[in-house]
Amino acid sequence: MSFFRVSHPLIEHKLSILRDKNTSTKEFRELVIELSMLLAYEATRYLPLEEVTVETPIAQAKGYMIMGKKLSVVPILRAGLIMAEGILKLIPSARVGHIGLYRDPETLKPVPYYCKLPNDIRDRDVFVVDPMLATGGSAVTAIDILKERGCKNIIFISLISAPEGRDFVLSRHPDVDFFVASIDERLNDHGYIVPGLGDAGDRLFGTK
Ligand code: PRP
Ligand code: URA
Repeated sequence: MSFFRVSHPLIEHKLSILRDKNTSTKEFRELVIELSMLLAYEATRYLPLEEVTVETPIAQAKGYMIMGKKLSVVPILRAGLIMAEGILKLIPSARVGHIGLYRDPETLKPVPYYCKLPNDIRDRDVFVVDPMLATGGSAVTAIDILKERGCKNIIFISLISAPEGRDFVLSRHPDVDFFVASIDERLNDHGYIVPGLGDAGDRLFGTK
């Protein structure tokens, strides 16, 4: 099982405000950042640690720091950009790659239009972020691109998934761990998640 729904009172609360059609663009953006941080808290749980010793003003203290892992955050444009902002607050030294995909409104298939990744992406643990996992086509294509570049450790963080998207990504990339805040009921005839939150990109950037 590599598809995890992360449940926490703060996540449930913030997700309900996010879904509300009356939530403003400003608040929507802030909530996406906060939810991304809460999900990243769980998605980074298994990062390896190394023991360190630091000098407090009083004495030496033994502690732990994240082992010298190379991390990268890869938002799927556009909506993933704001999620990346949240993750970078927790992992500020991570390198950032960008994958541009849009869904063809007729076929619902992802159309790649941009890709810029760190040169050493194959050596990094990669956190791919996109708030919506609907048919799962965009997630599968983004992961395909990363695997073609040699990436082996990929974690996908999303806010809302449809069951159809979950099943598709698991069938194509069973080796990837997925973290989501909700698995909703279904997709509608236009490929939107029901009840979902509408169009994440438009709500984040105020384009509709
Ligand atoms: C949305 C969303 C995902 C994709 C999910 O992006 O941010 O990338 O749809 O749908 P899928 O699982 O069926 O592929 P969209 O294509 O609307 O582009 P945008 O972020 O530029 O608005
Ligand atoms: N993309 C979105 O932004 N919302 C959906 O419900 C499905 C795809």
